[in-house]
Amino acid sequence: MSSSAVISESRVQDPVTIVIFGASGDLTHRKLIPALFIAYAQNLLPDTFTIVGFARRDYDDTVFRNMMADSIKEFSRLSADDETVNRFVQHIRYHKGDISTASAYEEMKEKFKDTETYPQNRLYYLSIIPDLFETAVACLKSSGLVSDPNSKHWTRVVIEKPFGRDFNSAMELNNCLLKHLSESQIYRIDHYLGKETVQNILSFRFANAIFEPVFNRSYVDHIQITASETVGMEKGRGGYYDEYGALRDMVTNHLLQLLCLVTMEAPGDLSAESIRNEKVKVLNATKLDIRKNISDAVCRGQYSSGFDDDGKPIKGYLEEERIDPNSETESFIALRLAIDNWRWAGVPIVLRTGKRMAKKTTEVAVQFKVPPLQLFQQVECEDDVCDITRIKPNTLIFRIQPNEGIFLKVGTKRPGMRFVVEDVDMDFSYNEKWSKSLPEAYERLLLDTLHGDSTLFTRSDEVAAEWKVVQPILDNLSRLKPYPYPPNEWGLPEADSLFRTSDGNWRNQ
Ligand code: BG6
Repeated sequence: MSSSAVISESRVQDPVTIVIFGASGDLTHRKLIPALFIAYAQNLLPDTFTIVGFARRDYDDTVFRNMMADSIKEFSRLSADDETVNRFVQHIRYHKGDISTASAYEEMKEKFKDTETYPQNRLYYLSIIPDLFETAVACLKSSGLVSDPNSKHWTRVVIEKPFGRDFNSAMELNNCLLKHLSESQIYRIDHYLGKETVQNILSFRFANAIFEPVFNRSYVDHIQITASETVGMEKGRGGYYDEYGALRDMVTNHLLQLLCLVTMEAPGDLSAESIRNEKVKVLNATKLDIRKNISDAVCRGQYSSGFDDDGKPIKGYLEEERIDPNSETESFIALRLAIDNWRWAGVPIVLRTGKRMAKKTTEVAVQFKVPPLQLFQQVECEDDVCDITRIKPNTLIFRIQPNEGIFLKVGTKRPGMRFVVEDVDMDFSYNEKWSKSLPEAYERLLLDTLHGDSTLFTRSDEVAAEWKVVQPILDNLSRLKPYPYPPNEWGLPEADSLFRTSDGNWRNQ
């Protein structure tokens, strides 16, 4: 997508110490360490680097290294032979400490005096609860562990989402961070931006001349974005989730980023600033498409109990572990947005995301208008039963995951004596084109931070604009009580009403 694509395939040159705060957590095991291992195995990390796991548990270097070796073997997307894993884990160390205690940082600083083992370029990855972001950054700064932005050795800090709980808290957090760091040192991560298929939205739109002329209100009927998941609140994720819910967990970041990429104007060049400027512009033009009441633009739901495909019982949201039984947090949300600019005025944009839905899928579907003259009829067949219907619109689908690819649905003459049209797919699938597995989002994003490329990270004004879009929902939660929806289906049936009188339907596929 950007000049950074070239950069992250080249080897990082600067020696670096990578400190992972929250090193005993799930993200470290499943994503961060396996991603760093893959970079190492592909010879993309510098000759000299040390990874420090910072957490409260009573481990030592050996115990932590063994745990990380196990994580790599379990979660690495590429095969991990013992010899390479053993060489890699020799770069890992453990630092036991409490994130909110100054002495933990002083002790780390003491260790860092050995600059051969701990290079002075530092990447701090905050994989911790959001309440501790500010404390960690303030402690790093007061212990002298943050370098000046213009000094010879760099400091970069990666902040995981959610960035704030609403517009005001996000701005407060931002101001606090900016007391200790400069904007260029902050990397607000949204792992969706690291996905190959998400980056490909921009390449597909702006590297092909044929689609861009029809990406506008004259040709597009509506755009729908779905991120559905089959998981519920397993593995203790209820504690975090019940505090945030689907809107803050998925919409304010991942879904709005997808919306930006599919609707933004072409940037003047591929620099981080140009791309982010365009995203901010389109976000600032985006608002909830309220007709009379906010409830005609937003639907919130909570999954109820039921059975899975094997007849095993599924707990309802309110019965799950670490969920308040009276919780009004949504596990599903759908919204209708409008973009008030020249290109998109009047085109509905509907988004939905939820847990315990029928299928794990993330896709962006751009549905075009039907031809102005209905010359043909359409035939739709299921097995040997065929129906004649009205002609179907063309749809361009960016399938983010799984079965990654891009599909264009077009009508074509069905062989036979009559002029009837049948829908066919013109498709490109990553699997068929490239047999190699796609890089994980974190592989790309971690390398970008080491290269100092912030293109795929969220700038502070972008975060502000994202919260502004959803703030009216947060201000009206008491009028938007969540309704129950059945598990293993497509979420709240009431979300169909967001299409209003238009021709659209959710693509439940
Ligand atoms: C995370 C959310 O950011 O994204 C999780 O916190 C969600 O709740 C996950 O499950 C989904 O990511 P992906 O890459 O599987 O779509």
